[in-house]
Amino acid sequence: TFEQSLRPQTLSQYIGQNKVKDNLSIFIKAARMRKETLDHVLLYGPPGLGKTTLAVVIANEMGVNVRTTSGPAIERPGDLAAILTSLEPGEVLFIDEIHRLPRAIEEVLYPAMEDYCLDIVIGKGPESRSVRLDLPPFTLVGATTRSGAVSAPLRDRFGVLSRLEYYTEDQLTDIVVRTAHILDTEIEIQGAIEIARRSRGTPRIANRLLRRVRDFAQVKGNGIITLAVAEEALELMQVDHLGLDNIDHKLLIGMIEKFRGGPVGIDTIAASIGEEPTTIEDVYEPYLLQIGFLQRTPRGRMVTQLVYEHFQMEAPSK
Ligand code: ADE
Repeated sequence: TFEQSLRPQTLSQYIGQNKVKDNLSIFIKAARMRKETLDHVLLYGPPGLGKTTLAVVIANEMGVNVRTTSGPAIERPGDLAAILTSLEPGEVLFIDEIHRLPRAIEEVLYPAMEDYCLDIVIGKGPESRSVRLDLPPFTLVGATTRSGAVSAPLRDRFGVLSRLEYYTEDQLTDIVVRTAHILDTEIEIQGAIEIARRSRGTPRIANRLLRRVRDFAQVKGNGIITLAVAEEALELMQVDHLGLDNIDHKLLIGMIEKFRGGPVGIDTIAASIGEEPTTIEDVYEPYLLQIGFLQRTPRGRMVTQLVYEHFQMEAPSK
């Protein structure tokens, strides 16, 4: 699809995550030299940093196809068995949100990962017996927002564990310029830097903001993304200078106004702004922790002095 073509297809096209890329490049070369399948890879880190893209890149670099599914999409052991038995030798199976696989299905995965086989139970009760079914060799690429949410036995069966990090402003600028080029959009470097700066270290956000700024440039300007156009468009989208959006604002200001800045539990925060606790934990909180706006304490989350400064509010005396 069009969206797919925006994504880098090879390691050399993939910007950032240099440690992860350097390691994968060696493991891929070694596997190719030995004509073996690549060992299973677990990718973890906040959403939008390129886990799915990397799975596609790994398959491309290995010269094989990728099959994509997700933890919550696999409801019964038979669903997984159907996928595993239909793989071509060496293919990549990508399971997104792998921490959400039901436990009974995880257990189907263990022998599949370790020995490329399925243990199928036929019949019920004392008559039942187990049959072993051979599978083609394959590479499982699993992705999760939190490695801690993956059960230990599953995690132990991955040969490669890679943590994706937030991107630097320079890396995001390169990504924005690259995407603008693919979208056939003229962009001035200062415009690209401004979008990068407000993208919370996250390519998915950078590319989304780029598309909206591009719309704005087309309708309100001459189609060229300049610094002024980017600033005006981002203002309109209520994305502030640090890239914090409406929900970040609601969360932080809610903590200040309703809970005197904390400490307050994640469930209480979530309920007070009408979001799911896991959405806050996986999507919003990691970046706020990264930039030092939130602190985790044994009694809950607290906003820091930086938040009061950012919103030009007075910190309460405690
Ligand atoms: N588009 C989105 N993420 C990217 C990345 N890491 N490198 C290049 N282009 C991208």
